[in-house]
This record gives sequence, structure tokens and C-alpha cells, in this order.
Amino acid sequence: MNIGIIGAGNIGGNLTRRFRALGHKVFVANSRGPETLADLVEETGATPVTVDQAARSGDVVIVTIPMKNIPDLPRDLFAGVSDDVVVVDTGNYYPQQRDGRIAGIEDGMIESRWVSQQLGRPVVKAFNNIYAEHLLKLGKRAGSPGRIALPVAGDDERAKSIVLKLVDELGFDGVDAGGLDDSWRQQPATPVYAGDFDAAGVRRALASASRERKPEWRSKSA
Ligand SMILES: NC(=O)c1ccc[n+]([C@@H]2O[C@H](COP(=O)([O-])OP(=O)(O)OC[C@H]3O[C@@H](n4cnc5c(N)ncnc54)[C@H](OP(=O)(O)O)[C@@H]3O)[C@@H](O)[C@H]2O)c1
Repeated sequence: MNIGIIGAGNIGGNLTRRFRALGHKVFVANSRGPETLADLVEETGATPVTVDQAARSGDVVIVTIPMKNIPDLPRDLFAGVSDDVVVVDTGNYYPQQRDGRIAGIEDGMIESRWVSQQLGRPVVKAFNNIYAEHLLKLGKRAGSPGRIALPVAGDDERAKSIVLKLVDELGFDGVDAGGLDDSWRQQPATPVYAGDFDAAGVRRALASASRERKPEWRSKSA
């Protein structure tokens, strides 16, 4: 599969490593330009590209940059990109530690809805609830006891099934976590967040989540 990855940090870098190890073609971009990705390219054999090229190179395009930087992406990032291309959002809103205030989310918008609105494209939410290091190292063969499961939420069943299959290839059980309107159940501070549960545990954690955004996950500025 051709996979575009926008963001080459903790998550983007490790997804590049794992997808390349599985034999996928990876087109990876950061904010500073392809020439700054030499180390990752040498290590993995991924193709370094611009952000625009990454959006146009994948059957799946994974957007994995800090939330505060999402509005900096080109306005027409996905213009002309086929609707068949699956866009994945790995993002989490960290208002106090990193992102500052994002009004739409503070006003109650689900994080991935906000990302989808910014990108002007439907998204599938995945990979947001596992530490990058665990994503790199803790994958196991299907059927292994204690295999970690990851929730995948989105409105398009075909797109979601493609992401669930990639999750399985990476060594994790994919759990269908419903539509994007359900994806608050896997946001930061929910039981499934960084829980490393198996599939039954993920289902239980999603079911027991509370919609309330706790004060420590809200911006302190008005
Ligand atoms: N770290 C984790 O364990 C983890 C786990 C799950 C989900 N997440 C979420 O996944 C997202 C990415 O997290 P991360 O930890 O991988 O971030 P990170 O290590 O800080 O890396 C951010 C990457 O985004 C790139 N970037 C920033 N602005 C950009 C722009 N306008 N255009 C293109 N690329 C841009 C950066 O490129 P430059 O270096 O060139 O600026 C860098 O490669 C966040 O929402 C985070 O909350 C993180």
C-alpha cells in the first residue's frame, strides 16, 4: 500500500518505521522540508516529500502533527485528492502542555471533528491512544495472548475497515469504536487512553468513558 505520513515526530517516525518494515511504500513529510528527513529516510527507505506531495501519494494519508499546527497546513491540502483516499487523524488536544486554546474544541467540538473541519475531509481517528514507543515495540502476532487493542473511530465503514486492517498488520487488535461522534471515548483522560488494554478491555474502557472534559484538559485562558 502507498502510505502518506504528514508529521515525522514520535508517531509519524514510528509509523514510518513499522510500515516500511511491513513492506509498504511510505511518503513522509515534516514542516521543514524533505531534505531534513535524511536520517529517517536512510534508516527506513521511506521517500521524503513535501506536505502537499504526502497528501497526494497515499492510498492512506496519516496526519500526525500537534493540534496547534493543524491550521498551518495548506488550506487546499486535499484539493483534487480522490475521495477514496483514507485520511487518518492521530491527534490529541493538549491545551495546557502544548496546544494553547483551540476555541472549537473548548466550545465542545469532538477533537477529530475539529481536525476534519480544518482539513475539509472526513477522517478516521486511530493511533491516538497509544504511546509512540509502544506502537513501535509492543505489536504482536494475531492471536497472541495479551495482544494490545486499539480503538478506531470513523463514519465511513470502508475507510475504517482499511485502517482496522493496518492496525492488525502493525500487531494490534483493531476495535471498531463507532462513528466520529463516538470518538470522544478515546480522547485524552478517558479510560482507554494509554491503557494498552486487550480487545475486551478496550470495549469496556470505551463503554465506561465520561463525556465531561476535565479542568486539566481545558485551556486556562479564556
Ligand atoms: N507522542 C506520542 O506518544 C503520541 C501518541 C499518540 C498520539 N499522539 C498525537 O499525535 C500527534 C503527533 O504527535 P507526536 O508526538 O508525533 O509529535 P512530535 O513528535 O512533536 O512531531 C511533530 C511532527 O509534526 C511536524 N509538523 C508540525 N507542524 C507541521 C506542519 N505545519 N506541516 C508539516 N509537518 C508539521 C513536525 O515537523 P518539524 O519537526 O519539521 O517541525 C514533526 O515532524 C499529536 O497530536 C499527539 O498528541 C502522540
